[in-house]
Amino acid sequence: MRAYLYQSYGPPEVLQLAELPIPTPGGKDLLVKVHASTVTPGVSYVRQGIVPGSTFKTLLMRLVFGIRKPRRPILGYEFSGIVETVGATVTQFKKGDAVYGTATGLNAGSYADYLVVPETWRWGVIAKMPDTLSFEQAAALPIGAMTALHILLKAKIKSSDNILIYGGSGSVGSYAIQIAKYYGARVTAVCSHSNLSLVVSLGADTAVDYTKNILERWKILLIL
Ligand SMILES: NC(=O)c1ccc[n+]([C@@H]2O[C@H](COP(=O)([O-])OP(=O)(O)OC[C@H]3O[C@@H](n4cnc5c(N)ncnc54)[C@H](OP(=O)(O)O)[C@@H]3O)[C@@H](O)[C@H]2O)c1
Repeated sequence: MRAYLYQSYGPPEVLQLAELPIPTPGGKDLLVKVHASTVTPGVSYVRQGIVPGSTFKTLLMRLVFGIRKPRRPILGYEFSGIVETVGATVTQFKKGDAVYGTATGLNAGSYADYLVVPETWRWGVIAKMPDTLSFEQAAALPIGAMTALHILLKAKIKSSDNILIYGGSGSVGSYAIQIAKYYGARVTAVCSHSNLSLVVSLGADTAVDYTKNILERWKILLIL
């Protein structure tokens, strides 16, 4: 199978296309033929081995991902695809299922033709894809949407809330707007000028342009 390996931290050029054997699933695993994955700010930090602006977070990240060089050879944290084979004890999935999820905590990532994913594991998730999503849409959903949902539930979101989503056009923010509206909250989203119509189309009641002058930004405080 084809896979993008990275054997040192650095710019996108550290990713090298290589031929590897297709991995063999164990009894509790699924072998997924990957159809789509994502490039997010988080993946680019892991590829570079740097969290911009924070030595402390960079150090923590290196402890997890490898001090001098990446511990895990294949990058990629989100995926969608088709189940190719299932292990003997797998009960919730079968060959041919369209699935999506995260490769968090696995030894290999999703920038490859195939990925072995356990049916359940501590750090990641896999689920059947809704019929309404394309592979590209499904792959772009798990981490941003789960992060947004986690934060909003932690904030005990309710319909009487006024919520400010700073970075409303990004991976986390675009899901946060939709989830906050689902809960009936009033949403103010902050983004650049070119994304104002996007955040409104996602449901934001008010959109604020962070590139505008300080008076414009004071509107946020007045709205809240
Ligand atoms: N993605 C994840 O799953 C995840 C998980 C955990 C934590 N995080 C953290 O959550 C944060 C957002 O991640 P993301 O993946 O959503 O990033 P992203 O997709 O790059 O989105 C960044 C957002 O910030 C906005 N923005 C950029 N510069 C800004 C400024 N000066 N003032 C206000 N807004 C500004 C962008 O608006 P424009 O695009 O309109 O410029 C965009 O809405 C990051 O700190 C990330 O490390 C992300």
